[in-house]
Amino acid sequence: MKKILLMNGSPKLEKSVTLILAKAFLAGLTETGDYEVEQIDCYKKKVNYCTGCLTCMYVTDGKCIYDDDYSEFFEKYLSADLVIWSMPVYFYGMPAGVKTFFDRMTMGITSTLEVLSGKTLTKVQRKPLYKRTVLVATGVYYSLENNFEPVKKQFELIYRGNVDFLFSPSVQVLGIPFLQYKTGPYLKEITNIGRRYGEQGCISQKDMDYAAEPLFDLETYLYFVNHYRYDFYKNKTEELKLILQQMLYTYEPNPALQGRKITAGITLKDMDLVFQLTITANQCFIRYEDFEGEDISFVMLSKAFLDPKPIGDKNKSNFSNFTDIVVSLCRTKRKQIDLTKW
Ligand SMILES: Cc1cc2nc3c(=O)[nH]c(=O)nc-3n(C[C@H](O)[C@H](O)[C@H](O)COP(=O)(O)O)c2cc1C
Repeated sequence: MKKILLMNGSPKLEKSVTLILAKAFLAGLTETGDYEVEQIDCYKKKVNYCTGCLTCMYVTDGKCIYDDDYSEFFEKYLSADLVIWSMPVYFYGMPAGVKTFFDRMTMGITSTLEVLSGKTLTKVQRKPLYKRTVLVATGVYYSLENNFEPVKKQFELIYRGNVDFLFSPSVQVLGIPFLQYKTGPYLKEITNIGRRYGEQGCISQKDMDYAAEPLFDLETYLYFVNHYRYDFYKNKTEELKLILQQMLYTYEPNPALQGRKITAGITLKDMDLVFQLTITANQCFIRYEDFEGEDISFVMLSKAFLDPKPIGDKNKSNFSNFTDIVVSLCRTKRKQIDLTKW
């Protein structure tokens, strides 16, 4: 049986979005052999910072001055066949709680230096540190460029190239249940990538590219992230959040609308709520105030949006094509549409 150590490097612990990705990958990988997986949450462990005293290097033959949770981790690390680091990118690198784990690895290194490839000075290992590794990392920025390069380079240097990468930028959407119509197939493919990794021992460029491809167009993503994180959902009920998020996320860019803007008034009768939905060729957004002239108005009940059907299955959903429905009803010249029976 092979041992996999899953290092959860997110301070959000089980709420980590990266962990969703890492677990999807592992689900595929573990299908390909006899594996035992152990998860360690870096941020649950009491691990002191490396003080740089080098006692472990010069005096104690690899023993640190601290007697903390690191010793137990280090034994597990050394005996693992594969280590999967799962972490958010913080300021283009690894989060502090993960870096502490690497700094303390000094106890696996001797003071001897050697020259590699004619130029690289590196320390000789006392322990097998440079093992087979996968780095699963996520970030909130939209793309990999000018973002993931530092952490990638750092892992390549630490593991002397013996590392595969699974990066997912613009990841904020992964943990949102009602986006499953997009995130579900994505995570399924991440599981396939894990399976291929188990069979072939590497993650191909094609698979890395797939993982890194944003799930939503930039504008939709920005709209969601910016509003989600700041004022958009303030004072809104959970139900309403769900309705509005569904509305924004089931929108697909519609080139046929080029140069046009459709504004639809929406009254959710049972919630006593009025807002406006604006749809253009490449954007869809919601207003609560400062209303503009409307092309069409709808009266509806919130259950049209809250029906569990829409979640997870775009094709069967009433709501999946709501923005398309608005656009096509607009062409009928009807000004008021009652969808309370919908
Ligand atoms: C201190 C801090 C620094 C961050 N720096 C970056 C960054 O450099 N690039 C990026 O894309 N996201 C950055 N983010 C966003 C996180 O990487 C992102 O929210 C991540 O997907 C969260 O993953 P988790 O849920 O697994 O913790 C940063 C977040 C924090 C809190």
